[in-house]
Amino acid sequence: MKIQIINGPNLNLLGKREPSIYGSNSFENYLDTLRKRYADMEIDYFQSNIEGELIDKIQTAGFAAEAIILNAGAYTHTSIALHDAIRSVPAPVIEVHISNVHHREEFRHTSMIASACKGVICGFGMESYRLAVEAVLGEKEINDNR
Ligand code: DQA
Repeated sequence: MKIQIINGPNLNLLGKREPSIYGSNSFENYLDTLRKRYADMEIDYFQSNIEGELIDKIQTAGFAAEAIILNAGAYTHTSIALHDAIRSVPAPVIEVHISNVHHREEFRHTSMIASACKGVICGFGMESYRLAVEAVLGEKEINDNR
């Protein structure tokens, strides 16, 4: 099973960026742990600070992967183009956030992409990504047993 993780702007700085909010672990480090835990899955990773590159990746992975786990960073709160990209592909997209955006500034309470996504997981630190992988596996089990 192939899962695509996509991280948006400023998430390349995880571990260095506002550690009191996002923790002190780099994403690459966390990804290592995740890949070891789910060794029988192919977990691909892409990060970009550029909105158009995120759209390009959704368009390709959305036809190739079983599911996309997307942390769109601040574009979550602004991007209709990402919303449209998510709706354009067959793979389910799970919106994730490291922080609980609902505990933070009001401008983070709105997601332009949530209504296009299968579901949303936020507030569990890096573990939000693992919970998203579990959600994908749970869905697959339900579908396989149908
Ligand atoms: C974030 C929350 C966003 O509001 C913020 O712009 C980010 C990170 C998170 O993972 O908590 O860049 O998506």
